[in-house]
Amino acid sequence: MALDPLFAPYERGDLVLPNRLALAPLTRNRAKGTVPAELNAEYYAQRASAAFLIAEGTQPSAISQAYLDTPGLHSDEQQAGWAKVAQAVAAAGPAKLVIQLMHGGRVAHPVFNGDQQPVAPSAVTAEGTVVTGDGSVPFVEPRAIETDELEAVKGEYVHAAQRALAAGAYGVELHAANGYLLHQFLAEKTNHRTDGYGSDVAGRIRFVVEVVEAVAAAIGERRTAIRVSPGHAVNDVEEADPQTTYAALYEELARFDLLYLHVLDSSPHAGYDVLDQARELYPGTLIANPGFSQEFDFEGAAERIADGRFDLLASGRPFLANPDLPHRLREGAPLNEADGSTFYGGDAQGYTDYPTLDELQTTTN
Ligand SMILES: Cc1cc2nc3c(=O)[nH]c(=O)nc-3n(C[C@H](O)[C@H](O)[C@H](O)COP(=O)(O)O)c2cc1C
Repeated sequence: MALDPLFAPYERGDLVLPNRLALAPLTRNRAKGTVPAELNAEYYAQRASAAFLIAEGTQPSAISQAYLDTPGLHSDEQQAGWAKVAQAVAAAGPAKLVIQLMHGGRVAHPVFNGDQQPVAPSAVTAEGTVVTGDGSVPFVEPRAIETDELEAVKGEYVHAAQRALAAGAYGVELHAANGYLLHQFLAEKTNHRTDGYGSDVAGRIRFVVEVVEAVAAAIGERRTAIRVSPGHAVNDVEEADPQTTYAALYEELARFDLLYLHVLDSSPHAGYDVLDQARELYPGTLIANPGFSQEFDFEGAAERIADGRFDLLASGRPFLANPDLPHRLREGAPLNEADGSTFYGGDAQGYTDYPTLDELQTTTN
């Protein structure tokens, strides 16, 4: 069967996974007051037949919040909320819960964080707007992080990672993609630093590597993952030569025995095959995500997994709309269509009410 490779177990050292499907991180803006609650726990538990549930972008500090009602991991209350999610996922199983740590950097916004000016590698304002509770507002000028403040920013990631594991998550994924803080360090357009954390490739990758190192030292290399999107021009980030930047980054990442490297297939933006580059230069587990500009192509992904070009497929919108995605693919069943109007914010509608195949069959029988 064409999709069989998606259901082959995966093993690397002590990591044993039942299949090759992961839920891609999806911001859903339904953690009211930044604290995950029962509804969020239910949503993740519904999708626990995946190998990994990579939970939505989660701010490691108040100042890093970029959107309305995104969960945080910097208070006891938020940690307790995540513990509810972790318990529900563990009870449903077998998925491993990985929480994505997302610092918005310059696209964080004062309306979400008690009026603090966002921080970024350099004081370069992003073009565009962000949706708040009161409509869209333009991004604001960030403040460049002082060199002696970098340690504290690293500490935010470390403390959030420690809270994630204390809450019962398996690991964390550091969000270095899609134009948020770590990507802003990697990209020339947003990083004008001259203090050893910019200027050239070695400088631009340095903070990202240091965050990986600090988090891995705190919670373990095998519990630390990272997501990148080479050359992905979103949130007004531009990279002049992603191939060189990411080659250098992967060489550094290869020093660690990380949980995985997650690459969004930004090849059309980057101008080269970013997945092939990652496979060639990074020796560990590689998760691929099709990226916004690609068609969903589960057969193509299965073939590439069988060929060893990557190890797991992270699926976003199809998994959002099909809580039982692995089961449906295995059965060759049609998929529910995702409703874009309920992606960001709201309640159970378009969140926990997508029917499983079994539920559909029960109602039609
Ligand atoms: C509603 C929505 C929310 C998203 N939130 C995040 C996020 O929090 N972190 C992230 O890295 N990517 C995020 N993405 C990008 C997805 O992880 C994924 O890369 C994208 O949807 C393409 O994959 P797909 O075709 O399987 O959906 C989001 C995408 C969507 C549609």
